[in-house]
Amino acid sequence: MKFFIDTANVEEIKKANEMGIICGVTTNPSLIAKEGRDFKEVIKEITTIVDGPISGEVKATTTKAEDIIKEAREIANINPNIVVKIPITADGLKAVNVLSKEGIKTNVTLIFNSTQALFAAKAGATYVSPFLGRLDDIATPGINLIEEISEIFRNYDISTEIICASIRSPLHIAQCALAGGDIATVPYKVIEQCIKHPLTDIGIEKFRKDSE
Ligand code: G3P
Repeated sequence: MKFFIDTANVEEIKKANEMGIICGVTTNPSLIAKEGRDFKEVIKEITTIVDGPISGEVKATTTKAEDIIKEAREIANINPNIVVKIPITADGLKAVNVLSKEGIKTNVTLIFNSTQALFAAKAGATYVSPFLGRLDDIATPGINLIEEISEIFRNYDISTEIICASIRSPLHIAQCALAGGDIATVPYKVIEQCIKHPLTDIGIEKFRKDSE
């Protein structure tokens, strides 16, 4: 299983990258807005930190296929590692179909059922991003979606990779690994939670006292 970090904060990206955990980055319009910085400037800086797939999303106001294609080409031009993130809509799929034929990598996002994922894969998506946490938020087990998409992609040898997104806890990561997700994109806070364990802290403290 591979891990990406889900943030546009360059300090968090640097810290996760130095630990050797992540091999890619995902952003979205909300994460970019949180940093209060220019989209292209942040994405460019991220490409200097991580040598792997970096998802940058088209503007939420760009909805027509021809406009998505135009903007996606501009985003892809920033760096060869760029993956253009596009929400699943009919126009979005039309754009993915054109872009994939040009060799532009795409991440089809806001996936909430397995047929959306299957259609995105058929259109030529490099990645699909099902959102676990937001399904859990409405009392629908998000992990079932990852299991379903994994099984469908396995059944038909589909090479589109599953980015398990909207990860909220270490438990989500373990569940995604068991369900066959290819990648989990994880907020920095959850990376920290995964590393920590109260028994590890107690053990370190005991070793420290004993070695004194
Ligand atoms: O990047 C998309 C996704 O990970 C968003 O997560 O926590 O806003 O549902 P969240």
